[in-house]
Amino acid sequence: MKLTVNLGEKSYDIIIEHNILKSAGKYFNLDRKVMVVTDDGVPAEYAETVKDVCRDGYICTIPGGEASKNIDMLQVILKAMLENNFSRRDCVVAVGGGVVGDMAGFAAAIYMRGIDFYNIPTTILSQVDSSIGGKVAIDFEGLKNIVGAFHQPRGVLIDPETIKTLSPRQRASGLVEAVKTGIIGDKTLFEMFENDDIDEKTDEMIYRSLQVKRCVVEQDPTEKGIRKILNFGHTVGHGIEAAAEGKLLHGECVALGMMYVCSDDIKKRLLKIYEKLGLMENIGPYIENIGLIGKDKIMDAMRHDKKAADDMCSVILSDSIGSCNITERRLGEIFG
Ligand SMILES: NC(=O)c1ccc[n+]([C@@H]2O[C@H](COP(=O)([O-])OP(=O)(O)OC[C@H]3O[C@@H](n4cnc5c(N)ncnc54)[C@H](O)[C@@H]3O)[C@@H](O)[C@H]2O)c1
Repeated sequence: MKLTVNLGEKSYDIIIEHNILKSAGKYFNLDRKVMVVTDDGVPAEYAETVKDVCRDGYICTIPGGEASKNIDMLQVILKAMLENNFSRRDCVVAVGGGVVGDMAGFAAAIYMRGIDFYNIPTTILSQVDSSIGGKVAIDFEGLKNIVGAFHQPRGVLIDPETIKTLSPRQRASGLVEAVKTGIIGDKTLFEMFENDDIDEKTDEMIYRSLQVKRCVVEQDPTEKGIRKILNFGHTVGHGIEAAAEGKLLHGECVALGMMYVCSDDIKKRLLKIYEKLGLMENIGPYIENIGLIGKDKIMDAMRHDKKAADDMCSVILSDSIGSCNITERRLGEIFG
C-alpha cells in the first residue's frame, strides 16, 4: 500500500509493506552517509537490517523511553554525525517509535541547517500518527515537545511485521491514536474497532489512520488551523500524562483525555473499545476516579502546556463519530 503526502516540493511517499526493511534502499537514497538512529528497546536487528543496505551506514542507539527525548540525547546524535564527517548531502534514518522519530527528525532538521530525514516507525503509535506530518521535537525543562521544528521526511516505510515485537500494552496504547482518528474523521475506522478482529485488521487501520492524517496535514502543514483537530483528546491527555509522572503510556492518557471531550453516547462506545483493547487494567481506576491522579495536578500541567493559556484552552469536541469542532474552554469547566 502506498500513500503520497502532497506538500509541493516537500511531498513524500509512505509505503506500507510486510518485511520491507531489507528493501529500504529501493525507496530511500542510501547511497551516502546514513545515520540510523534507534533506541535500545527496539530489536537491534531492525536498525542492522537498514544499516546493511546503506553504502556508508552508522548506527546511533539512544536509551529507550520518553526520558531520552532531551537535549543531551540530541547532542549524542549530532555529535555522532559530526565525528563521522556528515555533510549536508548525507541523511538520517529513524528506526523506532515516536521518541526516536521525533529526535532523529529534529537532529536532521538542525544539523547544517537541515539534511534529509527518512522515517521507519516501529510502534503502532508512530506508524499511525507521529511518522506523518513533519513535527519533530524534544522535551525541555519538563515540557513536552517544546523545542522543535517542522521538517518533513523524504520518505516513510512502515513494516507491520515490526509491531509483532511490541508488548500488548504498547500495542493497545498505540491503537488509541487510531481510535482517535476514527472519531475525528473516519466513522468506518471507528466501527472496525467495535465490530472487527483488531489483530486481523491492523494493517487497514494503519492505512485508514494515515489517510485521515494526510488529508489534514496537506491542508495545514504547520498547524495554523484545522490541524489542531489532531489534538483531539490530547489537551487533557497531555495534562494527565504529565501529572501521572510516568505511570501511564501516552495512548492511555489520550484514552482518558477523550472521555472529557465526547458526547455521552460516544463515551459509552469508547469504554467498550477500551475493554476490547485490554486498556482497562491500566486506565480503569482513573476513569472511575480521575482524582487518583489529581485534578489540580492535571490542570497545573495543562496550564504549563503550550496548548493552554490564561486558564483557557483549545478543546476539540465530538458529538458524532467522524466529525469534531474546535472550541475554547476554561480549564475548570472540563472536569465539571
Ligand atoms: N511528531 C508527531 O507528530 C507525534 C505525534 C504523536 C506522538 N509523538 C511522540 O511520540 C512519542 C511516543 O511514541 P511511542 O509511543 O512510539 O513511544 P516510544 O518511541 O517511546 O516507544 C515505546 C517503547 O517501545 C519500544 N519499541 C519501539 N519499537 C519497538 C518494536 N518494534 N518492538 C518492541 N519494542 C519497540 C521502544 O524502545 C520504547 O521503549 C512521544 O514522545 C510523543 O510526543 C509525536
